Amino acid sequence: MDNALAMSNHDVAVLILAAGKGTRLRSSLAKVLHHAGGRPLADHVVRACLPLHAKKIIAVVGHQAEQVSAVVEPLGAETVLQQPQNGTGHALLVSKRAIGNARYIIVLPGDAPLVRTETLRALLQKHKTGNAAATILTAVLADPAGYGRILRKSGDAVAAIIEESELTPDQRELNEINSSIYCFTAAKLWPALAHVKPNNKHREIYLTDAMSVLNSSGETVLAEIAPDPREALGSNTRADLAGVDRTFREWKRDQLMRDGVTIQLPETVLVDPDVTIGEDTILEPTVQLLGKTKIGARCTIRTGSVLRDATLGDNVLVEPHCVIDSSRLESEVVLGPFARLRPESHLLKGARVGNFVEIKKSTIGEGSKAPHLSYIGDAKVGSKSNIGAGTITCNYDGFSKHPTTIGNRVFVGSDSVLVAPVKLGDGAYIAAGSVITRNVPPDALGIARGRQSTKPNWAARKRRELSATSPHHPKKKPRKKRR
Ligand code: UD1
Ligand code: MG
Repeated sequence: MDNALAMSNHDVAVLILAAGKGTRLRSSLAKVLHHAGGRPLADHVVRACLPLHAKKIIAVVGHQAEQVSAVVEPLGAETVLQQPQNGTGHALLVSKRAIGNARYIIVLPGDAPLVRTETLRALLQKHKTGNAAATILTAVLADPAGYGRILRKSGDAVAAIIEESELTPDQRELNEINSSIYCFTAAKLWPALAHVKPNNKHREIYLTDAMSVLNSSGETVLAEIAPDPREALGSNTRADLAGVDRTFREWKRDQLMRDGVTIQLPETVLVDPDVTIGEDTILEPTVQLLGKTKIGARCTIRTGSVLRDATLGDNVLVEPHCVIDSSRLESEVVLGPFARLRPESHLLKGARVGNFVEIKKSTIGEGSKAPHLSYIGDAKVGSKSNIGAGTITCNYDGFSKHPTTIGNRVFVGSDSVLVAPVKLGDGAYIAAGSVITRNVPPDALGIARGRQSTKPNWAARKRRELSATSPHHPKKKPRKKRR
């Protein structure tokens, strides 16, 4: 038996409750589509369930059903429509057919994304060994406000879950909360749920009410306390979302540090979940690494730089305040400070691109340099070429984009304008201040600018003329003669 099969749970159906609107977020976007830790909430929840290898993963969708389905289906979940959304218990009832004959049901809310697979395994284990009808994942919180509270009987057993709005003054002290993550034995859940009435101010069927029904019919309801209480946190408000995001970011940074990455002032550094970084790379404060960014070993990403979908080789230095988008930097490249790489830029080994240089859809060859104040778009630059300060490729004529091709060992003088399409051959030399509109062959000089003329003494003469006529420069009074 292979490993995956050994760990599979073919008698378990996973049900993710993701149909609600999220009224408390005050948003036009459904709650489970909000992002934390670089992914939509629902995406995290499905990912946590995947390694369980359950019989199926079902997401209950309703509000913005299409968009929610577009998040969960590519990950392997199927969907059930709950319309209207009459509560967490109702969400289970509408999914009964999809759940089919699974022996156990693991239920998760779509807004508690920090839960870990290991914790779900422990929940299922406890449920089976305790021979329970229901097992609730709980957490003990310093501030339990807003959550349903666990009312214990004795030991592990639970009498009921009391929703916040139903708490008696005494019960407000209870600090063990319901995460809304449960394991049920299907055959015991369905009859209990049939007894649950929408006896609350929202007129909803609460799944939480099934616990007291089970308990009073003599069934066992257990609680498993989450090893890290943050795993139980929901995301009902923007403040909740910010807290959940902070935890994801912290976990990601902790993982990177364990993998040999140095992070200075880690709480200021933001790294998306799919980012990978090699050993001995240093991230300075306030760096953001987004999307599918991949960074090699021994790189330094200095403060204020934002990289999205960037690929960096080894020993790359990104100076402060660079923006890199969907671009590739081979090893030993030095970038910035204040450089901007727009999509499809490729800097080959040892290239240097300096301050206030913007590059778009261009290749800069091995060891080539564009150190200051340039725009390079739709260009191919060979190796060991030098692009002088202020060089601009005019790649756009108002209708379409045109390429610029610069060979190897080309020297482009400062403040040159290269009007595309144009080619500069290997070893060519462009005089500073040229506007180049025609190809320059290899080893040739391209010069295209007004010829300088110098007029000796012109300035001095001009000054004399002007001071003679200007009212602001009156002639000096003649000195009185001494007697
Ligand atoms: C729920 C629990 C509460 C628990 C808390 C943990 C109930 C009645 N209360 O409260 O005990 O402490 O979670 O975070 O269950 N949903 C549907 N269909 C519906 C209603 C909700 O799919 O008809 C989904 C929501 O989209 C959400 C999840 O169920 O993902 C939980 O709903 P939510 O409104 O967040 O419940 P809480 O008030 O947080
Ligand atoms: Mg919630």
